Order: sequence, then structure tokens, then C-alpha cells
Amino acid sequence: MRPLALIALLLLAGCGRPGGRPHPVPATRGPWPPTWTVGDSAAAVAAPRAMVVSGHPLATEVGRRILEQGGTAIDAVVAVGLALAAVLPDAGNIGGGGFIVHRDTAGVVQALDYRETAPFAAARDMYLDSTGQPTERSITGHLAAGVPGSVAGLHAAWRRLGRLPWAALVAPAVALAEAHELDEERSASIEDDRERLGQFSASAAQFLVDGRAPAPGTMVRQPDLARTLRLIADSGPDVFYRGQIADLIVAEMARGSGLISKADLAAYTPRWRTPIRITYRGYTIYSMPPASSGGVTMGEILNILEGYDRLPPFGSTALAHLEAEAMRRAFMDRNRWLGDPDFVVMPLDRLLSKAYAASLRVQIDPIRATPTPPFNPVAPPPAPGGDNTTHYSIVDAQGNAAAVTTTLNNGFGSAVTVGGAGFLLNDEMDDFATAPGQPNMFGLVQGENNAVAPGKRMLSAMTPSIVLDPRGALFLVVGSPGGPRIITTVYHVISNVIDHGLSLAQAVGAPRVHHQALPDSLSVERGGLPPAILDSLRAMGYGVREGNRSGLVMAIMRGPAGGWIGVADPRTAGAAAGY
Ligand code: DON
Repeated sequence: MRPLALIALLLLAGCGRPGGRPHPVPATRGPWPPTWTVGDSAAAVAAPRAMVVSGHPLATEVGRRILEQGGTAIDAVVAVGLALAAVLPDAGNIGGGGFIVHRDTAGVVQALDYRETAPFAAARDMYLDSTGQPTERSITGHLAAGVPGSVAGLHAAWRRLGRLPWAALVAPAVALAEAHELDEERSASIEDDRERLGQFSASAAQFLVDGRAPAPGTMVRQPDLARTLRLIADSGPDVFYRGQIADLIVAEMARGSGLISKADLAAYTPRWRTPIRITYRGYTIYSMPPASSGGVTMGEILNILEGYDRLPPFGSTALAHLEAEAMRRAFMDRNRWLGDPDFVVMPLDRLLSKAYAASLRVQIDPIRATPTPPFNPVAPPPAPGGDNTTHYSIVDAQGNAAAVTTTLNNGFGSAVTVGGAGFLLNDEMDDFATAPGQPNMFGLVQGENNAVAPGKRMLSAMTPSIVLDPRGALFLVVGSPGGPRIITTVYHVISNVIDHGLSLAQAVGAPRVHHQALPDSLSVERGGLPPAILDSLRAMGYGVREGNRSGLVMAIMRGPAGGWIGVADPRTAGAAAGY
């Protein structure tokens, strides 16, 4: 494999809100090195029995200890998820939602959907102004929040697949909420979002000191969150959905004309779903079905590319071209068809069939980009990035595996902290097509199947995935944040390992390209491809955009001689640890 030299990487450009409106998502930061060669940048951690990889070293350590105490992968999922709510509040949460893909040692794979739902009082056009244009109300403030799913979801997973006592899994998060040292990345992300957080008094009190982010190394104390977590340790989800915490959420809604009611909270139900199963060159991939678009869209990309006997070499113009064309076609279907399976009928069997992939593949011009047909007459502006979700991967000592992606959507979600309860509410309502046919925060132009409706789940791109090798053995556990880039990021890691023979560290560290149909442009991580290749892609008809880091992968792979290799993406300060 020819190492691809990467040059200056400037990571701090923010995400621009489509439509020329200023966008509140801050720049993303991380210790992604300004120069590195594929393979040099990511550290791989090896352990013989069990492994945890998450976006924060303190949360990873919580998970490792739970596994060492004999906890199952799902026990560690609960403990890590709640710890992330304390130490990585820009994405870790109890006021958001997520997805788990789990495989047990008997080979049973299950998917849990604890995505947020639209409040019962939500309406299709609630985010449009009097001229029919989308507003910022789906991004910042009380109206942006969907009914949170995380507490119910983690508890449902634990009831089915946990072993240790629930309270023991919540306890480490209580301790972290009581006190932990603020890390550099969190201090920077709070600073980036200080204006949004400063608009809401409970958020300002919890995250800011004199209107600014605390310096790295500051001891963070979140007494309200610690109290909430203690109540959850004692009473499980009941206190959150029907008891004291529900009352505090509803009181917070009253402060900002939000919609979430006691009835919404009482009705919230996580859903066990059948995972998407994709075969690729003898490997089997299990990923998230709708209400996430992740599994279906990645399945289409992989099915299209599987039709080429061998993919072009890593880092080549030809590879970026085929990938972009496969991504474009998969995203066109995503944006048109996918939505909440409890509300819309989707042709999933057809979209995932190899025959359908073949029909898409023959439309790819080997030497030219195919323009994306317009979804509506308004050309969407460039797609912004954003990494304010978090993924974690876990394998326990028995070999049970869990891939979990969870989010508040934007960094710090809606920026609204529930007064007296100490946790942020999501702004997941922006993942709906709040104005069908017009771009959302991520530049995605989506259709009626993902329009707002009461009780409906907004379509996600989160792609927690588990890969089996051709013998059917657990091979890879993987996922990422990144909005729509999640799907292409996870695709890249899987293809880098299977098609290009990269090690996990190389596969995660390698530069990524992204196409989402609309906007019709090819995003390349800045410095990821040499200028000559960018020029040849432009000559083929691509609008090439060099942009931010794309995705923050947390992955586990079986080691060549057994055991597990954990890799936290070098683009952020996550950590892998095992025993
Ligand atoms: O569910 C989704 O697809 C989005 N809410 C994920 C958002 C994300 O990755 C964060 N990026 N800013």
C-alpha cells in the first residue's frame, strides 16, 4: 500500500447554515495532526479479552472497569453512555437519543432504536416563518427538542442484555458529574458555543464562568446532573419519564414555549428493530435500520461498489470517483424514501438488493461525474460538517459486541439545560425535513417521508455497525459522528480494511471523501488528497470542496493473533482501553 502523504490540515472552519443564515454550530477541534502519513497517526491499543473505545478517556475507563468486574457489553454501554453525559456534554447525553447494534456470542444480532420523537403538539410547518422559509427554531431553544430517548433506551438494553445491578452502572457517572477535570477539547467546544449556551440561564450556570468556558484543568462540578443521575440510579427511567425529572422538563418547556408534555414523556418507547444485513465480498455487516438511514444508505454504497471485481487503488482519482458516484446514488434514495418505519412505507428490500445496485452501477460513467438531478429549483449551498455526536464500541470478555452512536444533534443540542436537572436537551427536530425540499443544517435535502409529524422519529444518519468475517466470526465494531458524513465515514473504514488491506489504525486515520447527492459537491478532508488528484476530479466534473475533518471513528477489530485492537480516531481526544 502506497502511503498517502497528508499535508497541512486546518480544522477549524465551522459549519455554515444553508440558506445564508448564520449557523451556530461551532468549529470542531481536535488534536488531528497537521501532517501525517496514513498509519502513523492513530494509536492502536491491544488487549487479549475485552475492549472499550469511546470519545472520552474518562468514559472509556468507566467501561473498562465495568467489563473487568464481569459486566456484559451492554452493562458497559450503559455505564459509558451515562459517563459521557457528564464528561462529553456536547454530545454525550441523557436528553438526546441514539442507536445500539448488539451481537451476542450465539450470533444473535439486535438493534435498539431510542431515537427522539416529535412531541404530540408538533406540526409539519412549525419551523417555517410567515414566508415559508425555515427558521433557526429547529436548532436552538426549546422548540428544537424532541422527546429524549436515551434513559429509556439504555434501560431497555440493560433489561434484556445486562448482568450487573443498574445502580452500579449509573454510579460512575454520578461521581463524574460531581467532579471531574475539564479537558482541553471540551473547554474549546464550550468556548465555541458560549453564545448559544449563554442564552439560557441554566446552561450558562452549568457550563460558563463569567460567560466564558472554564479553562482546561478546571474541576467541573454538576450537582444538578449528579442529583438527576442518582434519581435514575434509584428509580430507573420512571423518574425521568413520569416523575420528578419529567416535571422539571415540562417546567423548562414552559420557560421557552417548548412542546414536550408529560404525555409525550410517558408515551416514549424505545423500539427493538431488525438490523440491516449487508453482505460485502464475503463479509457480513449488521447496521442500523430506519429510523436511521445509516444501514440502508451504507448498504447501497457497498452493494454498488461490490460489483467492481477490485476497487481502484487507495488514494486514486478513480477510487474517489467510484465512491462519490455510489454515495450520490445511495443518498438520493435516502433523501427520497427513508423515514420513521412506524409512519412511512419504504421499499427497503428493493433498495438493498444486489440487482438494484447493479442497475445503479451501470449508470455510472467511468470518466465523468453524473450531476445530481435537482430535488427542487433551489440549489442547496455547500454541506457543512460537524462532529457533535459520539460513538462508542465495546466487546466484552465473552465476545458480545455493541456499537452505540448517541447524540444531541448539534454540539450541546438545543443549548437548553433543564433547570434543576442539569442536562441538555437535544435539537434533533432539525433532522426532520423541516421544510421538505429545502436543505437542513447538514445541507441534506429530504422529502415528505421525513416531514415533521406528532410522535414521529426524525430520520438519522447514525450508523453503528458490526462486521463479521467470511467465517462468520466477529471482526469489526465501528461507528462515528458527523451528520450525513457518518454513513460515508463508516463505509470508508470498512472498505479500507476489506478492500485495501489497511490496519485498523490506518483505516481510521486515512483521509475520507464524502458525497451526499445534494449539494452536488465532493467533500475531501483538507490535505487528504494531493492537488493533482483534486484537479483531475474537477476535470471529471466534480465541484470539489476541501473541508474539515470528517467523522470521529471509535472502532474495535479482532487482532491478527486473537484478542482485540481498539482505535480512537486521531481527529479527537478519545481513548481505547481493554484488559
Ligand atoms: O442523527 C443524525 O444523523 C444527526 N443528528 C447526527 C448529528 C451529528 O453527527 C453531529 N454533527 N454535528
